[in-house]
Amino acid sequence: MSISKWFFAEWYDLLNSVVESKVIPYRQLTAGKSQGDTLEIGSGTGANLPYFVSAKSLTMLEPDIHMMKKLIARVNSSGKDVQIVKSFGENLPFEDNCFDSVVTTLVLCMVEDVEKVISEIYRVLKPGGKFFFYEHIVAESLRGRMLQHLLDPMWKLATTGCHLKRDILGIIEGTPYTEVEHQTFNLNVGIPITIPNIVGSASK
Ligand SMILES: C[S@@+](CC[C@H](N)C(=O)[O-])C[C@H]1O[C@@H](n2cnc3c(N)ncnc32)[C@H](O)[C@@H]1O
Repeated sequence: MSISKWFFAEWYDLLNSVVESKVIPYRQLTAGKSQGDTLEIGSGTGANLPYFVSAKSLTMLEPDIHMMKKLIARVNSSGKDVQIVKSFGENLPFEDNCFDSVVTTLVLCMVEDVEKVISEIYRVLKPGGKFFFYEHIVAESLRGRMLQHLLDPMWKLATTGCHLKRDILGIIEGTPYTEVEHQTFNLNVGIPITIPNIVGSASK
C-alpha cells in the first residue's frame, strides 16, 4: 500500500491538472469562504492553499507522509503561516469548539470512516462555525449507481482508497448540523461519464 500511496501522491497534481480548471469554482466556494480559525482536513498536496484568503489562522491536516512532503514544500514556498498536522480526520487532535471553519475537498470519499470524520468536524467547530465541503457523491439515477458499483473496486485500487458511491449529504444531514446548504451537479470531465458532485456548507 505504501508504494501505491507514494505513487498517488507523486502523480496527484498531474492527474488533477486534467480537471483542476473545472474544480476551481468549488475551491472558491469552500476554502475561499472559510473565515476565522480554519482547519482543512486531507489537504493533500495543498491545492486549496491559494484560496484561503479570509482565514485568520490556517491548520492543514494530512495523514499521508508522501502527500505531506509535497504539502510542506508548497506551504514553504507560499510564505504563508500555516500549521501542518499529521493526523487522521477520524480522530482530530483538537479540543471541542475551537475552529470557525472546517473545509474538506475531495476527501470524504477517501477516509476510512466517513461518519466519524463528519462527527469529529462537528465536535471541533465552534457553535455557529461552518463546515464547507466539496465532494463527489453517489449518483441519483439507477444507471449511474450501477456504473459506480461496477467501477468502484477498480477505482479504489487506482486511487488508494477513493469510494465512488458515498451518500455524503445523507451523512451530513444525519449529524446535528443546522442550515445545510448545498448544490448537486454533474462535473463533466470531457469523457462520456459525468461525475455527481456536491458543494455546500453546514453550520453547528
Ligand atoms: C483526493 S485527495 C484530495 C486532496 C485535496 N483536498 C484536494 O482537494 O486536492 C484526498 C486526501 O485525503 C487524505 N486522506 C485520506 N484518508 C484520510 C483520513 N482518514 N483523514 C484525513 N485525510 C485523509 C489523503 O491522504 C489525500 O491527501
